[in-house]
Amino acid sequence: MCGIIGALCRYEVRDDLLAALQRMEYRGYDSAGICTLHEGAFHQLKAAGKLHHLKEKNARQPIPGCVGIGHTRWATHGEPTMVNAHPHLSEQVAIVHNGIIENHLALRQHLHQRGRNFSSQTDTEVLPHLLEEKMAECGDVLPAWRDMLAELHGAYAIAAMIRALPGSLWFARKGSPLLLGRSEQGMYVASDALALAGLADEVMYIEEGEWGRVTLDAVDVYALDGQPVQHDWEPLPLSVEDSGKGGFRHYMLKEIHEQPGVLRNILRAYVHETTIRFEQAMFLHSRPLPERIVMVACGTSYHAALTARYWLERYLQIPVEVDIASEYRYRDPVIGDNTLLITLSQSGETADTLEVLRMFKRQTPQNRALALCNVASSSLARESDGLIELFAGPEIGVASTKAYMAQLAVLALLTMCMAGRAGALKSSEMAGHLRYLEKTVTDMEAMLADSSGVLQASSLFAGVKGALYLGRGPCYPMALEGALKLKEISYLHAEGYAAGEMKHGPIALIDSTLPVVVIAPKQYHLDKVISNLHEVQARGARVILIVDLPEADWFAHASALIRIPEGDYFSTPLLVCIPLQLLAYEVACMYGTDVDQPRNLAKSVTVE
Ligand code: AGP
Repeated sequence: MCGIIGALCRYEVRDDLLAALQRMEYRGYDSAGICTLHEGAFHQLKAAGKLHHLKEKNARQPIPGCVGIGHTRWATHGEPTMVNAHPHLSEQVAIVHNGIIENHLALRQHLHQRGRNFSSQTDTEVLPHLLEEKMAECGDVLPAWRDMLAELHGAYAIAAMIRALPGSLWFARKGSPLLLGRSEQGMYVASDALALAGLADEVMYIEEGEWGRVTLDAVDVYALDGQPVQHDWEPLPLSVEDSGKGGFRHYMLKEIHEQPGVLRNILRAYVHETTIRFEQAMFLHSRPLPERIVMVACGTSYHAALTARYWLERYLQIPVEVDIASEYRYRDPVIGDNTLLITLSQSGETADTLEVLRMFKRQTPQNRALALCNVASSSLARESDGLIELFAGPEIGVASTKAYMAQLAVLALLTMCMAGRAGALKSSEMAGHLRYLEKTVTDMEAMLADSSGVLQASSLFAGVKGALYLGRGPCYPMALEGALKLKEISYLHAEGYAAGEMKHGPIALIDSTLPVVVIAPKQYHLDKVISNLHEVQARGARVILIVDLPEADWFAHASALIRIPEGDYFSTPLLVCIPLQLLAYEVACMYGTDVDQPRNLAKSVTVE
């Protein structure tokens, strides 16, 4: 979703603002803008659509100044037009904002009565005017900034410049992430650490409700109640290389290819010979095992949780509930004692998932909450009682790939670890499963080196209206994920179904033009899947089989075969990830869509 950058430097900042916005493109946006403050005047450029429009404007008419703010906007209030793009200005103030000001209509009305006029349809535009009013009342910016924040309902991350104070940048955070950066050359405010790659050496994470200002020499941070707070500077956990495509045509393809390395990192981090240990979630090793597990997430992360439910229930023999965060938070769930909450999130900033964590902690503070997250500095990771980091590295393609595989991998390890403690998995069995996970690293490399099966399968999607994905057991949620991946990046309609459920409705879709991807590894009820395959085949569909058997007579029913190496109970879904992701990728390329930034999508969904 929206991205924020602010820079206060010893040199002109426009190019850095644009470069930072470019590094945040992956978050999803539909317009962008930058504004600098130079010799007492604001200089502003805005453009609807992709960033190159803004860059072209800057090339024609570069804006001067050593202090500036920039924004990529993902429209919520008002269409993605130039007028609605940020920054929003009053006479004295320029502001960029992420989040939603829920009481903006009341504020707008009040400000209107005081003679203020608005040009955009956004909620954000009330902010510069409100601050200006408060500055006039208080006669000083610090109390005015605090009073402005006190009137806001909703979520925000804000960066602002004030015309009379060209040597400072102002900021605030509530419900939307924000961090500061510094280098010898300047100070920065950003919504995303990636924005600061190549600019800052060190970062400071701003906590919920905090606000303040930076100058070239100092940082003042205050809590919501106005008390000063201190935070340490930490090294920026990223380099400029992390934000590049590494020679691949798209970020998504690069990230698919990074998966063997990600799995290797995960095994190195958590497996020590045949012991699995989660150093940032020690309660998993010391407290009694939970009597119930609740797993909550959104989108792809939710699909990873659904697969893990099969694993956890089989080995722990306790109820495992899995829900979509936006449903769970509004459905009055009954949370008993001895319940472990597991939230899953690539970004760790997904608004609904975060709210579930907060609700769970409010309602049952005696329980523990574990986050499986790719961003250790994220709100979700920091507010949970324990963290299992995904070690996938920055994921920039909007469609989640390597983080999903990493979630499956750590969930497999978590299951084994808890099953070991419960006495449900002998150490010899555990060692066998771990050997399979190690073999998966090289198996993935081999699959990525030869994707001919996927290429052949992708040609069956030419000119189709949609596709069906079928699987059973832990591979049923993988069918959901395969379908989601295809729709996200190719814009083809796709449905994922439990193979056994097909005859209860979706079978009506089948004709000779429909590609049906059948996930059929031998691990999960293969005989049943083959029966479902016959039902599909009898109706003339274009069947694409994902299989790990070397040969079988039922392969004759397929229009395309995608072979995966043989896995075991835990490793098979990890192997299935690769062809599902590559297939969606190849189909999207064939259709010529914007693979890394598909229309309407945001990488990190920070509003509900
Ligand atoms: C995945 O391809 C998606 N773009 C999306 O479903 C994503 O998984 C979802 O928004 C949750 O994000 P999170 O993992 O960062 O919480």
